Amino acid sequence: MNKKELINSGKVKSVFTTDDDDKVIIEFRDDMTAGDGERKEVMNKKGAYNAVISAKIFKVLEENGVETQFIDLPEPDVMLARKLDMIPIEVIVRNIATGSLIRKYPIADGTRLEPPIVQMDFKADEYHDPMLNDSIIKALGIATQEEIDTLTEKALKINEVLKEFFADAGIILVDYKVEFGKDKDGNIILGDEISPDSCRLWDSETLDMLDKELFRKGKDDEVMEAYVEVYNRIIPDDEKVI
Ligand SMILES: Nc1ncnc2c1ncn2[C@@H]1O[C@H](COP(=O)(O)OP(=O)(O)O)[C@@H](O)[C@H]1O
Ligand SMILES: [Mg+2]
Repeated sequence: MNKKELINSGKVKSVFTTDDDDKVIIEFRDDMTAGDGERKEVMNKKGAYNAVISAKIFKVLEENGVETQFIDLPEPDVMLARKLDMIPIEVIVRNIATGSLIRKYPIADGTRLEPPIVQMDFKADEYHDPMLNDSIIKALGIATQEEIDTLTEKALKINEVLKEFFADAGIILVDYKVEFGKDKDGNIILGDEISPDSCRLWDSETLDMLDKELFRKGKDDEVMEAYVEVYNRIIPDDEKVI
């Protein structure tokens, strides 16, 4: 499948149209950003690690009945995906309290959240991704109540599948963010990526961070080692392409 026109260049990925109107090519770049894109560095092969990890996770989700954008990974850093009309909501699921949750609310770092928290933030860097609620989402015309309920259900289903998937690799899924979009028939499908950029992942034994939080904390020299560790643990040897 050939790239045609660049339709969206975000902070870490570039999206291209293809010969097929229903498919896009998503190139995962080596950029790493924090603070709504205010700090940016280039990390060697980061795009490929995130693309391969995302592809693996999308395949696992598909096997468990969650529809995703994933079609193929023709190159380690290039994903062929279903073209979606993205919903500007970051759906966040939290199994353990940390990060912005403990900064904004009186809850101790590391508190187990049962049931998990589902949070929706407005995906808009210029507004610093403010938290939404159902009435705000409807007032902004972003989604209907039925769609909000679908997003919540899907995010929780993804959580159940991925908590177990990561646990099998000795990793705690602390929290994560997903983005959904609509296909041409209006079906809500999981898009974007699920990677150490968009998840908080802790080693089950040591509780060491294995995700982008290291970069947020300025530990730039440890970031890629963590991403490679996640890759090595979840990608079987016969599926390794990097
Ligand atoms: N399947 C898809 N079809 C169309 N656009 C997509 C798809 N998956 C992700 N996108 C969009 O691609 C853009 C680029 O990704 P990214 O670099 O992560 O951007 P951002 O900086 O906005 O988070 C994002 O706007 C994202 O919503
Ligand atoms: Mg993004």
